[in-house]
Amino acid sequence: MQTNYPFQLKSLPYDYFQLEPFISKMTLEYHHDKHLQAYTDNLNKVLKEIPELQETSLIDILKNLNNIPENFKTGIINNGGGVFNHNFYFDQLSPSVDMDIPESLKTKLIKDFSSVENFIEELKKAALGCFGSGWAWLVEDNNNNLQIIITKNQDTPFKDNLKPLLNLDVWEHAYYIDYQNRRAAYIDAFIHIINWDVVANRL
Ligand SMILES: [Fe+2]
Repeated sequence: MQTNYPFQLKSLPYDYFQLEPFISKMTLEYHHDKHLQAYTDNLNKVLKEIPELQETSLIDILKNLNNIPENFKTGIINNGGGVFNHNFYFDQLSPSVDMDIPESLKTKLIKDFSSVENFIEELKKAALGCFGSGWAWLVEDNNNNLQIIITKNQDTPFKDNLKPLLNLDVWEHAYYIDYQNRRAAYIDAFIHIINWDVVANRL
């Protein structure tokens, strides 16, 4: 990902139709070209006003929210989080269905969640239980333990000093065209198109 201001829309690592039937071309066109573009444009607008942060990487900005001038903080949290979260999300999806999970990650999932199946169930439960707009995450804490967490709106795990490994967008814009109000169906579909190599490489 491009690290600092001015940010440009990052292309998807696959074609728009390639995640069908799990996520449609139309959903990706809106989600990537409209929603992510808007977060990107708005982040640039905010950072234009904060020259002292223009050389700082987006991740460092999101890790050090106290360094953001108070009147720009909400704009950075919402739009900087929006840019990071969406690039992270799109990067970890794959046209290859039901990929194998690399051993390095599988071992850790079994250690912390008893089994891969149990981890998937816990992730689904968390994503389904997120009230309103937000994200479900697999993260690694400072003791190298894996956890599932929820962040609201465009908050990121960086604010709690957690390392993100996988995220699942449960804003309605991520699924409404394909699944309407059936968030559970979207979550089930998402599980099939995770690029586990990308996730494992984030460890
Ligand atoms: Fe989204």
